[in-house]
Amino acid sequence: MKIGIIGAGNIGGNLTRRLTALGHEVSVANSRGPETLKALVEETGAKAVTVPEAARGAQVVVVTVPLKNVPDLPAGLFDGAAEGLAVIDTGNYYPKERDGRINAIEDGGLTESRWTEQHIGHPVVKVFNGTYAQDLLDRPLPAGAPERLAVPVAGDDEAAKRVVRELVDELGFNTVDAGGIDESWRQQPATPVYGLRAGVAAVTRALAEASPERPAAHRA
Ligand SMILES: NC(=O)c1ccc[n+]([C@@H]2O[C@H](COP(=O)([O-])OP(=O)(O)OC[C@H]3O[C@@H](n4cnc5c(N)ncnc54)[C@H](OP(=O)(O)O)[C@@H]3O)[C@@H](O)[C@H]2O)c1
Repeated sequence: MKIGIIGAGNIGGNLTRRLTALGHEVSVANSRGPETLKALVEETGAKAVTVPEAARGAQVVVVTVPLKNVPDLPAGLFDGAAEGLAVIDTGNYYPKERDGRINAIEDGGLTESRWTEQHIGHPVVKVFNGTYAQDLLDRPLPAGAPERLAVPVAGDDEAAKRVVRELVDELGFNTVDAGGIDESWRQQPATPVYGLRAGVAAVTRALAEASPERPAAHRA
C-alpha cells in the first residue's frame, strides 16, 4: 500500500520502520525537510519527502505531529486526495506540557480529533494515540495470539475505519471499534484506555468506563 507519514518523531519514525518492514511503500515527511531524514531513510528504505508529497496519491496518510503544529500543515493538503483515502490521527492534546491552550477543545466541546479534522480538512481515523511509541516495535503479535494487545479505533468514515483496522491488524495489534469522532474523548489522555496494555475485552471495558469530563491536570 502507498502510505504517507507526516511527522517523523517517536510515532512517525516507528510506524515508518514497521510499515516498510511489512513491504509498504512509505513516504515520510517532517517540518525541517527531506534532507534531515537521511538516517531514517537509510535504515528503512522509506522515501523522504515534503509534507504535500507525503499526502499526494497515498491510500493511507498518518498525521503524527504535536497537536500545536497541526495548524502549521499546508492549507488544502488533502484537496487532491485519492478517493477512499484514510487519514490516521495519532494526536493528543497536552495543554500544560506542550500544546498551550486550545479554546475550541477546552471550551468548545470539540474532541481533539474533531479539532484536527477541521484544521486539515479531511476526516480522520483516530488510532495509536494511547500506544507507547516503543510498543509499536516491541509488542506486535500474530493474529490469534492470546497476549495480543488491542487498540481503540474511532472514526466516522466506516470504509476508512475498515482500512485502518486491517492495517493495524497487519502491524500486530487487535482493534476495538470505539465509535465516531464525537465519541473519541473515550480514548483521549487521562481516560482508562489511554496507555492501557491489554486485550480486546479490557479495552472494550475501559472505553465504556470513560468519563467525558476532562480532569484538571489535563486542562490548560
Ligand atoms: N510519543 C509517544 O509515545 C506517543 C504515543 C501516542 C501518541 N502520541 C502523539 O502523537 C503525536 C506525535 O508524537 P511524537 O511523540 O511522535 O512526536 P515527536 O517525537 O515530537 O515528533 C514530532 C514530529 O512532527 C514533525 N512536525 C512538527 N511540525 C510539523 C509540521 N508542521 N509539518 C511536518 N512535520 C512536523 C516533527 O518534525 P521536525 O522534527 O522536523 O520538527 C517531528 O518529526 C503527538 O500528538 C503525540 O501526543 C505520541
